[in-house]
Amino acid sequence: GFSWKLADHPKLPKGKQIAVVVLDGWGEANPNEYNCIHIAETPCMDSLKKGAPERWRLVKAHGTAVGLPSDDDMGNSEVGHNALGAGRIFAQGAKLVDLALASGKIFEGEGFKYIKESFEHGTLHLIGLLSDGGVHSRLDQLQLLLKGVSERGVKRVRVHILTDGRDVLDGSSVGFVEILENDLVKLREKGIDARIASGGGRMYCTMDRYENDWDVVKRGWDAQVLGEAPHKFTNALEAIKKLRAEPKANDQYLPPFVIVDESGKAVGPIVDGDAVVTFNFRADRMVMIAKALEYENFDKFDRVRFPKIRYAGMLEYDGELKLPSHYLVEPPEIERTSGEYLVHNGIRTFACSETVKFGHVTFFWNGNRSGYFNQELEEYVQIPSDSGITFNVQPKMKALEIAEKARDAILSRKFDQVRVNLPNGDMVGHTGDVEATIVACKAADEAVKMILDAIEQVGGIYVVTADHGNAEDMVKRDKSGKPLLDKAGKVQILTSHTLQPVPIAIGGPGLPSGVRFRNDLPTGGLANVAATVMNLHGFEAPSDYEPTLIEVADK
Ligand code: 3PG
Ligand code: CO
Repeated sequence: GFSWKLADHPKLPKGKQIAVVVLDGWGEANPNEYNCIHIAETPCMDSLKKGAPERWRLVKAHGTAVGLPSDDDMGNSEVGHNALGAGRIFAQGAKLVDLALASGKIFEGEGFKYIKESFEHGTLHLIGLLSDGGVHSRLDQLQLLLKGVSERGVKRVRVHILTDGRDVLDGSSVGFVEILENDLVKLREKGIDARIASGGGRMYCTMDRYENDWDVVKRGWDAQVLGEAPHKFTNALEAIKKLRAEPKANDQYLPPFVIVDESGKAVGPIVDGDAVVTFNFRADRMVMIAKALEYENFDKFDRVRFPKIRYAGMLEYDGELKLPSHYLVEPPEIERTSGEYLVHNGIRTFACSETVKFGHVTFFWNGNRSGYFNQELEEYVQIPSDSGITFNVQPKMKALEIAEKARDAILSRKFDQVRVNLPNGDMVGHTGDVEATIVACKAADEAVKMILDAIEQVGGIYVVTADHGNAEDMVKRDKSGKPLLDKAGKVQILTSHTLQPVPIAIGGPGLPSGVRFRNDLPTGGLANVAATVMNLHGFEAPSDYEPTLIEVADK
């Protein structure tokens, strides 16, 4: 029968304290002027690289290695941390939705039947990120969803768009809105009353995460549900173009707008009897809006109205909270994660990051589950992020504070595993501000140093890795690798993640001398890390985990 008990590792001892450090958005790429990690002073990470190939190597962090549909898909934090924590590769939301749409199963499930009840007398509202980034959502999936509902009796559709510019180039929102508008024209020709009803930038409306700033969700709510926003337009394309023309405006932070008819009335507020689908598959930035749409008791902001709707998520967004209670596609069933195993085997765990990445080392790490497995053995600490700013303004973020917390946890000797995420490379990389990203990388490196110093003091072991690339390449390139220029002749800054591999380094005084990276796993990826960490805690990994990256040479 099944048992949580892990077998003892034949060669590696128990009882070592291990620091697991995840640098967010820290890939390996050619050294050049757009590689912020290369330009920044990063003596600590540089010194780890000198341990190659025995104690430093690269692992895959994108595409099929982390459960994404294809190897053209860049990595992201959700799939990266899922793989790191779960030790196996699960078909992820992007892929599961593709499959459900291709087979038509999405339209046969409980979630679809539930919302379909409203098609006859109500409006179907679709809320989500409009881009082909493939991190939170994909435009082609929205298009197939629209086609599917149009063939299944929907009479009135309203799309509430969130512009991207973070997983795709800034300015690409215009093209995506054009494509969507064309599709909606076709639906109208079929007699379906289909329109865009509201919009706003993803970082300013709706898509906050980990309860960093409820005002973001409120701004979206006001536009989507109440039909109220500071900007009113009769046409979404015009809205985007006008709002983008404001100084400093960009897709990520576009102010909210609503589409109104000739008399100035919003065309698509959400009212009793309507159906709502949030069409993002990724969870972290949908949990807050899902709570606002679903919870009867809710005190995070004044909703003014709480319409009686039939609401479904594209996926279930939180397996522990069972949120939302209706959804169109079953999420990946990420069970028996390394965190759960280790807790069952007595490993005391400390996890920490600042708000914007806190859920990454807890919720994502644990297979999209909020909360503890065993509160007696685990402590999760969240350091409040600065809110209401873009992180190029404060590129050091809370790296120092996170490192101090980790250091204190290590020196307290109360924990076997101390796990952190250092967000700088990613969060600042997403702003597209190269100068600030260089500062960010230096700050992350200093934080790593502080944690490794603590490990040195207690005779422990460190595992330093990353979840996906970002800061190591800040420019959009053509197929041959040359930077792409925009119409004005300026290089196109890449705000998104990359396809690059990420480093992993092991070391520390507690690491037995024969431990080294195997050389028979050249295509190893993030999913191989969990078994590696379990070994370092003195356990064999479960047999269905991806193989460990290390071996113990007899010396
Ligand atoms: C975001 O949500 O900020 C980006 O779309 C992806 O970034 P992350 O995967 O690093 O969180
Ligand atoms: Co990111």
